[in-house]
Amino acid sequence: MRFKDKVALITGGNYGIGRGIALQMVREGANVAIVARNEQRGAQVVAEISESGGNGEFFKAELSSEETVIGMIDAVIEHFGRLDIVVNNAGCGSQNCGIEAADPPGPRWANFRGANLDSTYFVSAHSLPHLAKCEDSSIVNISSTATFHGNWGLYGVAKSGVEALTRSFAAEAAPLGIRVNCISPGWIGTGEDADSAAAGTEDGEWSLPPSLLNRMGTPEEIATTVAFLASKEASFITGQTIVVDGGLTIIDYPSIPTLDKVGHRLYSHSPKK
Ligand SMILES: NC(=O)c1ccc[n+]([C@@H]2O[C@H](COP(=O)([O-])OP(=O)(O)OC[C@H]3O[C@@H](n4cnc5c(N)ncnc54)[C@H](OP(=O)(O)O)[C@@H]3O)[C@@H](O)[C@H]2O)c1
Repeated sequence: MRFKDKVALITGGNYGIGRGIALQMVREGANVAIVARNEQRGAQVVAEISESGGNGEFFKAELSSEETVIGMIDAVIEHFGRLDIVVNNAGCGSQNCGIEAADPPGPRWANFRGANLDSTYFVSAHSLPHLAKCEDSSIVNISSTATFHGNWGLYGVAKSGVEALTRSFAAEAAPLGIRVNCISPGWIGTGEDADSAAAGTEDGEWSLPPSLLNRMGTPEEIATTVAFLASKEASFITGQTIVVDGGLTIIDYPSIPTLDKVGHRLYSHSPKK
């Protein structure tokens, strides 16, 4: 119960990784504000939280709009009376794709920047005065290992901005006693297929393993890292990005077949040709 009586705001908490984070924070005693656009999914997670004996409320907001974010934070404060933890998890991504008339550069950049970077900036900036009133308050952002890889287009660019913003806000918020950190997830299984996707590559779904551990990660594995960073146990950590990717980014993938020679399970568990 590390977060008993605290209030945590989770953007994108109505689905996927964000839902996992919201449920983890509730398990550890937090009251949770879930912020996203889809009300039906929001209501489902709030019902799950209530059934587990927790306290959650859904706040509808398009997070790329500063005006909407200001109204949403006012509503959260009016409802819960305080704000201790902010998790900027909302986002959207896709790999590189060619410029088309239906998807021109300006709107495309506005889309990825808005959902990933503007949302993180607006929510963090307008939360600071409220976080500053609480002890041990902190912000946890969610970026992506797409920041390392050129094939993730503007998603990787926007998420790189999230990591830079983490350092920038950590410096700005330190005098207020607020820590700011970031998690960079690799492939995480979400939605209805999460269990099968997390089970690994034996079914041939992946042509190469999605991590060094031969499986996708789970929302819970991101959620427990969020909880650690938001807790007192991380009291001397700020401005950092922790990669949670099962070792994906430390592997030189073109060399994987050579691992077979030494019987490494990463290759031997890969789908048979
Ligand atoms: N899954 C992965 O493998 C993976 C890997 C690396 C990083 N990530 C990052 O982890 C985070 C969660 O990923 P996920 O896989 O759980 O994604 P997801 O299932 O697509 O969920 C995205 C969440 O963000 C919300 N959202 C998106 N745009 C929004 C906007 N403009 N305003 C308000 N809410 C918005 C969505 O809710 P509404 O649609 O209801 O608004 C939804 O709750 C994202 O930031 C993603 O980039 C995911």
